[in-house]
Amino acid sequence: MVKRNKLMIFRKILFLLLFLVSGRAHCLDKNKPKILFIVHKFPRLTETFVLSQINGLIENGFDITIWAREGDETYVLQSDVSKYNLLEKILYIDFYNSKTQSTTLRQNQNPGNFALLNLQYNRKKIVVYKFLDNRTSCYVFFIKDGEDNHYIVKQKRKDSLVSQFRVVFEMLNAYIAEIVEIPAHRVRILPMGIPFPGKFVAKKTATIHTLVPGCQVKQLQGGPYYDVDIKQYNHPLVSKYKMGLNRKVIADMALHSDLPLIVALDTFIGNRDRNPNNYFYDQSSDRFYAIDMDEICDTRDGRILVSKLACSKVRGMLKNNEIFNRHEIKGLQHYQATLKKLVDNFPPRIIYMLIDQFALQAGFKKKYYVPEILNMVNQTKMKIEKTYYDIQRLINLISQLIESQKNSNGY
Ligand SMILES: Nc1ncnc2c1ncn2[C@@H]1O[C@H](COP(=O)(O)OP(=O)(O)O)[C@@H](O)[C@H]1O
Ligand SMILES: [Mg+2]
Repeated sequence: MVKRNKLMIFRKILFLLLFLVSGRAHCLDKNKPKILFIVHKFPRLTETFVLSQINGLIENGFDITIWAREGDETYVLQSDVSKYNLLEKILYIDFYNSKTQSTTLRQNQNPGNFALLNLQYNRKKIVVYKFLDNRTSCYVFFIKDGEDNHYIVKQKRKDSLVSQFRVVFEMLNAYIAEIVEIPAHRVRILPMGIPFPGKFVAKKTATIHTLVPGCQVKQLQGGPYYDVDIKQYNHPLVSKYKMGLNRKVIADMALHSDLPLIVALDTFIGNRDRNPNNYFYDQSSDRFYAIDMDEICDTRDGRILVSKLACSKVRGMLKNNEIFNRHEIKGLQHYQATLKKLVDNFPPRIIYMLIDQFALQAGFKKKYYVPEILNMVNQTKMKIEKTYYDIQRLINLISQLIESQKNSNGY
C-alpha cells in the first residue's frame, strides 16, 4: 500500500516535471479537437479579433488550421502572426467558387475532422463537406459529425450587431415550431467563441440546423406539389389578391396536412419569407419541412403585420360569402387548431423571456445591448403583442367562416 502511494506520488511529480519542461501552455493537447477557421482573407490587419482568437486557442492547446481564399495585400508581417507560424497553418482554397457557386470539396481538400469555425458542437468531431456562398446575406456550411449526422451551419455575413442578432430569431422561431410539433428544422445557437476568460470576443454568431430531407419546393419537377405557394405576402405594393392569407394559400395548404401547420407558424411569427426555397418536400416520408426563419414580424418598408392581414382577409371572405370546398375547410381547421396551440403555448411574456434567453446564449448581454439592438428588440416585442391579439381574433373569424359554410353546397 505504502509502496503504491509512493509510486503515485512519483508519477505525479514526473508529470509535473514533464509539464514544466514542456513549459508552454500552448503545447498540443490530443484530447482537444482540431479547429478549422474558414475566413475570406487571412491574415488581415483589420481583423485582429480573429488573430487573437487563434492565438488564444493555440495557447490553450488546440490544433488550428486556417482556410482562406486569399491573403490580404495590405498585410505586413506582425509578431502575432509569426509567433505561432500561423502562415504555415493556412490552406488557401477557392471555396467561393463563383462558377458553380457551391463547391463540394475535393478529396485532397478534405479537411479531416475539425470542430468547425472555432466552435465545438457536442464535443463531436465535425467535417465540412460543402460550402454555399450563393447568398447575399449569409454563409452556409454543410457539415457532418462523427456519427454521420448532417447539419447546416449558418452565419450572417454582415457584421452589424442587428444582423448578428438574427440568430436569436432563427432559434426562437425554430424552437416554437419544435415545441408545437410543426415540421421544421431544429436550430441551436453556436455562441460567439469559446470563452477563454479575457482572451477574445469573437464577432460572429452562428446557428446550427438539422439538415432536412428532400428538396426545396422550388426544385420540384412535377407531382401534386409542383405549384404550391403558401407565401403570405405583406408588402403594400403587392396586389390585393396576393396579399396575406389569400385564396391560393388556403387552397394550397389544403393539399397536405403539414402545410396548414407551416402556414400557421408563419402567421404567428409574422414570417413573410416562405418562398419555395424556404421549405422542403421529402417524397420518401411524404413530409414538408420549413427552414430559414430568421425574421420575425417584419414590417420594414411599410409592410403590414402578417397576422393583421390574415384577419382582414378572412373578414373580407366572410363579407363576400365566399365558398370553400371540404378540403379547404379541413385545411382551415388544421390551421386554426395550430394557431390555438401557438397562442396557448407562447403568450408574449414567454416569447420575451425566450428572446432574452437566446440572446444571452448568443453572447448578447442585456446590459450591453447597444441602442439599435435595444430599439429593435423593443419594437419586435410590441409587434409580438399585437400579433397575439390578432391571432385570437383570427381564431374567432375562422370559426365564423367555417360556420358560414354549413349551409353552402361545398360543406
Ligand atoms: N436545414 C436545412 N436543410 C437543408 N438545406 C438547408 C437547411 N438550411 C439551409 N439550407 C440550404 O441553404 C440555403 C440557404 O439557407 P437559408 O436558411 O434559406 O438562408 P437565407 O436566409 O440566406 O435564405 C437554403 O436555400 C437551402 O438550400
Ligand atoms: Mg432562404
